[in-house]
Amino acid sequence: MAGQTTKTLMNKALRVDIAGSVLCWLATADAGGRPNVSPKEIFAALGDDQLLIADIASPVSVANVAVNPQVCVSFIDIFRQRGFKVEGRAHLVERDNPRFAEVGAELLRMAGPDFPIRAAIVVEIEKVSRIWAPSYRLFPERSEAERMQAAFDAYGVEPKV
Ligand SMILES: Cc1cc2nc3c(=O)[nH]c(=O)nc-3n(C[C@H](O)[C@H](O)[C@H](O)COP(=O)(O)O)c2cc1C
Repeated sequence: MAGQTTKTLMNKALRVDIAGSVLCWLATADAGGRPNVSPKEIFAALGDDQLLIADIASPVSVANVAVNPQVCVSFIDIFRQRGFKVEGRAHLVERDNPRFAEVGAELLRMAGPDFPIRAAIVVEIEKVSRIWAPSYRLFPERSEAERMQAAFDAYGVEPKV
């Protein structure tokens, strides 16, 4: 891994877990500090410092970001039992903004034609923390395959072969 900065490695890991996460959870707060959290399926990293989330049906999140940009986003790969918590400041890039075509390209690709995106919620990443399931600490000797099998068993699912 010589020549790769911690940030580059972290960023690769972030992208791997974004790809393995079905949903992220976006936490915002209104001007008075009342918290709000809701799931979003359409989200992606942009460059090294931004996380994008599609506003398809998120009126409270959008209203909160407009008055209080501080947000927190978490996502986990439920089968590998790990993920990330991202903190940062968010702003909106509306669909009619000329910048949307570039900023929102990946979100548009992910959403496809059936889910119209009203705006990209752009999170300027300030802090990234790892989320590990307690089993990583309690059973560090477990392999990834064993960890995934435990998750398949717990959730009553089987991988497609
Ligand atoms: C599986 C799932 C995926 C969702 N993905 C998105 C999404 O990508 N973007 C979005 O705006 N809403 C999405 N939603 C809908 C919002 O979570 C929902 O409308 C929520 O009430 C919005 O809350 P808010 O106004 O507090 O953001 C999703 C909901 C579910 C259950």
